[in-house]
Amino acid sequence: MAVVIDGKQVAASYRETLKERVTELRARGIVPKLKVVLIGDDPASHSYVRGKERAAQEIGIDSQVLRFDETISEKELLDLIDLMNEDEEVHGILVQLPLPKQIDESRVIMRISPEKDVDGFHPENVGKMMLGLDTLLPCTPHGILHLAKTQTEIAGKHVVVVGRSQIVGKPVGMLFLNESATVTYCHSKTDDLGAMTRQADILIVAVGRAGLVTADMVKPGALVIDVGVNRVEGRLVGDVDYEAVKEKASAITPVPGGVGPMTITMLMHNTVEVASRG
Ligand code: GUN
Repeated sequence: MAVVIDGKQVAASYRETLKERVTELRARGIVPKLKVVLIGDDPASHSYVRGKERAAQEIGIDSQVLRFDETISEKELLDLIDLMNEDEEVHGILVQLPLPKQIDESRVIMRISPEKDVDGFHPENVGKMMLGLDTLLPCTPHGILHLAKTQTEIAGKHVVVVGRSQIVGKPVGMLFLNESATVTYCHSKTDDLGAMTRQADILIVAVGRAGLVTADMVKPGALVIDVGVNRVEGRLVGDVDYEAVKEKASAITPVPGGVGPMTITMLMHNTVEVASRG
């Protein structure tokens, strides 16, 4: 039976250290400030943003959500980003994705000052991460790395990543490579996915398809990190057949309560980092 990794607990304990850092910053007259831009009425986006507001409030970060109708033009959004880039009191800027179709997502990401890009999506930050330089790391991959480190040494382990999204799959492989893991990427065109995943000491699944990874695809004793969030019959489930894989893995993250809480916490980490740079 696997250890069930309590992401809520790991995240809460990490937030305690952030709270102390914010107290020190405030004593020096620095109030970490995060601006979140939320466009349209996608329920998932609204739910994520509520989680971000709650975490910010708990830690002592001043967060402000700017809400816009989905008819907002690209120019209006870019002008707003310019204002926040110039505002010295703003440390972090996050534009919640996805964006309405009239807005070019990459143009928005590239407009945010790399110094305030707490999502870690700007090409300058992605490039620095690739080079192994100190930078703002993308939140979900950083959270996954932190969770994995609570369970095992990373160096020398075979990490198999299923999924190659810009937000999770690609960068998480890079972070583990930087930690001297051997990394294999798999995706929808991979031949014989099970043959690959069975080699994983650490299996990271970030596809968005419920039931994708079954117990026969997991090496006994593997650490399994499930990044999927799927709604099935009104319930949230990951990409991994949790009940069956739990019997085979040495440790597994549940959905919900695994990776999710870490993502928000790493966003807070990035905001505190920017505020600390002064
Ligand atoms: N939408 C879903 N995940 C994310 C994320 O990590 N950052 C932003 N900005 N939008 C998202």
